[in-house]
Amino acid sequence: MHIQTINLPQKQYSIMIQKDLLASIGELLQQNYKTKKIAVVTDDNVDAFYGKVLMDTLTTQGFQATKVVIPAGEKSKSIPMLEYLYGEFSAFKLSRSDLIIAFGGGVVGDLVGFAAATFLRGVPYVQIPTTLLAQIDSSIGGKVAVNLPTGKNLIGNFYHPEAVFIDPTLLTTLPIRVLRDGIAEVIKYSAISETELFANLTSYRNEQEFLTHIEWIIATCCQIKQTFVEQDEKDTGLRMTLNFGHTIGHAVETFFNYETYTHGEAVAIGMAHITQRSEALGITAPGTAKKIIALIQKYGLPITATEYNHQALLNAITLDKKNSSSGLHIILLTTMGRTVIKKINANEMHLYL
Ligand SMILES: NC(=O)c1ccc[n+]([C@@H]2O[C@H](COP(=O)([O-])OP(=O)(O)OC[C@H]3O[C@@H](n4cnc5c(N)ncnc54)[C@H](O)[C@@H]3O)[C@@H](O)[C@H]2O)c1
Repeated sequence: MHIQTINLPQKQYSIMIQKDLLASIGELLQQNYKTKKIAVVTDDNVDAFYGKVLMDTLTTQGFQATKVVIPAGEKSKSIPMLEYLYGEFSAFKLSRSDLIIAFGGGVVGDLVGFAAATFLRGVPYVQIPTTLLAQIDSSIGGKVAVNLPTGKNLIGNFYHPEAVFIDPTLLTTLPIRVLRDGIAEVIKYSAISETELFANLTSYRNEQEFLTHIEWIIATCCQIKQTFVEQDEKDTGLRMTLNFGHTIGHAVETFFNYETYTHGEAVAIGMAHITQRSEALGITAPGTAKKIIALIQKYGLPITATEYNHQALLNAITLDKKNSSSGLHIILLTTMGRTVIKKINANEMHLYL
């Protein structure tokens, strides 16, 4: 098993990565949470594939466990769903010395993490991420949130899990588009800080070969994320580097009303566009955009949006609440594996679109 420990001033927790780990999680939890009640929250897709395996390993180990199943999809990351979870936890008489498990992709992880952070002013929770994006990104670093009708992730907190259990075997049932969504984030990690990962991604022939190296890929991405989180837990400086491709990406998602492009596809478009522009502006080494675009296309991800409308994207960026009136931070590659955080005014953004 690959184990790495996140060290923060107030919290330490382990990320465990191993194929077929799911069926042993009850045993692993037994060591630390002997007599506790456990509330598992999952979505209906994940439940259909893996709900029974998880519940069996918990009950075999003697835990009193309940399972709460929510509808799959971003719409569940909402205040009404949060209220529903609080109701289920209350009915189960969950106390602060019990445990919550977030079992699913980033939607379940973010929602359940926020519910855990706020129910009874904080109940310990564990992440069992089931999408590639969740295994390399959203389950690590403590960002938890729900959406408001006016925007994504507007209600949130930093609340770290007790542990993250990653079973790469779970990825075999992902729809190809959801897998590629995660691959876009793997490409991002490789572009911002890891040239060996970039070289390997370039050398794999296709997604099948990518999946044969999945444990190493996940561990490498988790190590990169860990480095940024440990240096800048609250995302006020260096951790922003992880937003490479995301400023344009968020604007693409917003412009198309979250319907046309997935998050990963939008980030892929963002990485391609901003690198082409920063290369043209002389900030990025010549040839970098060509390399990243080739990699994005190889994994079936888009490099531009249909109806790419500069003005509309610019409007979306300026309206994004994350981009404060004092300016916004964009992440640019200087060369492959190296970045610079550039603070610009919203009216300079057109240079990078
Ligand atoms: N907290 C963070 O740091 C952070 C970082 C990035 C993204 N996010 C958030 O993550 C969310 C997106 O997460 P996501 O991409 O994992 O989407 P998701 O949770 O909606 O999962 C995508 C789809 O895959 C299905 N699924 C999940 N695991 C499966 C499996 N093993 N087999 C078959 N189907 C499976 C789900 O039911 C869903 O239909 C967004 O809300 C985003 O804001 C958070």
